[in-house]
Amino acid sequence: MKNRHYTPADRVLLGFDQALRTLFGKPRVTERPDPADDLSEGELDNERRERTARMMRINHTGEVCAQALYQGQALTAKLPEVRDKMERAAQEENDHLAWCDRRLRDLGSHRSLLNPAWYLGSFTIGAAAGLAGDKWSLGFVAETEHQVVKHLEQHLHQIPPEDRRSRAILEQMKEDEQQHATQALEGGGAPLPGPIKLAMKLASKVMTKTVYWI
Ligand SMILES: [Fe+2]
Ligand SMILES: [Fe+2]
Repeated sequence: MKNRHYTPADRVLLGFDQALRTLFGKPRVTERPDPADDLSEGELDNERRERTARMMRINHTGEVCAQALYQGQALTAKLPEVRDKMERAAQEENDHLAWCDRRLRDLGSHRSLLNPAWYLGSFTIGAAAGLAGDKWSLGFVAETEHQVVKHLEQHLHQIPPEDRRSRAILEQMKEDEQQHATQALEGGGAPLPGPIKLAMKLASKVMTKTVYWI
């Protein structure tokens, strides 16, 4: 598969297929089980349940954005090794997407209606990062993952201990994201300039604030 040659038109079609799967269908997951499997549902009152569902919606949208970033980067990244390295990470993000989606439904809520807009925005940013060159592209992955790890820590702080299912998912995601960041740095990722990091933080703030409600 690695050496298969895709024409630009193939890539556009594949990209479309992936976007539709991410937004409306079933993502292609790895062999790993859902960390919430085998854990019993905790006792949650309606208010806590709803708050957690809103947080899981944010995490689900975060994973939609991760897919879009990786797809955008894969389209423009120059080195084939970078593309290959990102492939497994992108697949693990699909696990996260599926786990968050299932948890969101178990908690009786829905995916964000804003996901297509966030997908498009993140895809564009990912493609731009890929065009900037592989060291920036990998640096961008590392910084994104660092910010996601911090964000997940905040959610783990807020989600009650009784909700072991949501917590197990977020714990595993945190571990994976940390590893993605390390891989990206080891692959040659450069530290991003301060203003870019700040812009990324602001964009994710807008995402979390809006998706909490919609
Ligand atoms: Fe993820
Ligand atoms: Fe990740």
